Amino acid sequence: MKTDFDLQQNILEKTAEFVKISLEKAESGHDWWHIWRVRNTATHIAKAEQVDPFLVELCALLHDIGDYKFHDGDEELGPKLIREFLESIQTPKSIIEKVDDVVRNISFKGSLNSHVEKSIELQVVQDADRLDAMGAIGIARAFSFSGYIGQSFYDPNIPPKPGLSKEEYKKRKSTSINHFYEKLLLLKDGMNTKAGRALAEERHRFMELYLEQFYKEWDGEG
Ligand code: ADP
Ligand code: NI
Repeated sequence: MKTDFDLQQNILEKTAEFVKISLEKAESGHDWWHIWRVRNTATHIAKAEQVDPFLVELCALLHDIGDYKFHDGDEELGPKLIREFLESIQTPKSIIEKVDDVVRNISFKGSLNSHVEKSIELQVVQDADRLDAMGAIGIARAFSFSGYIGQSFYDPNIPPKPGLSKEEYKKRKSTSINHFYEKLLLLKDGMNTKAGRALAEERHRFMELYLEQFYKEWDGEG
């Protein structure tokens, strides 16, 4: 007889396969390894929270399928694909609803204008996703993303513009270094969970140190 655990493992395995295939063509900041890291970090944070670890893992696996960037700006297509996929593997309706809520509300861009009540699953997975944009990995992703969209890594003539609206953030071309001020250094104060905050403090300090060294080298002094 199949136990709940078996059924959950089955859903997780099939979902991981679906996600790997779906993200095959994604740039390196959003590839399967991003999902893999977010799943691990989310699982780590979940241990300190009253939350269903299965649901956290499932949401972590699916969180970027809903991303508008992969669907020509269409914010409905991702959630629709996820729902269809989960239905096709007979996932219970109550779980599909919770996943839907998380994938719709997780992104930084999505959080700029909205004030949604966050489920605990959303809080954990959002912290893990934000942590992946911070620290050594976050720095690597920012430079990789800049190469992907063809922006410079630094230009002292383009000043950073923090506090952008959702629309401005979506269309603006900036630089990797500006991205620290427009997003990466702001992430620490938006963490939802205690465990997430502790990890964020460490990664934040590392980014500050990195910037210090960067400017020294830029000025020929480091
Ligand atoms: P996430 O997938 O974590 O919700 P995004 O989709 O906004 O975040 O961005 C994916 C990765 O690319 C992140 O590591 C982010 O910091 C980086 N990134 C996004 N926009 C820019 C940008 N304009 N310049 C440099 N890096 C960026
Ligand atoms: Ni992500």
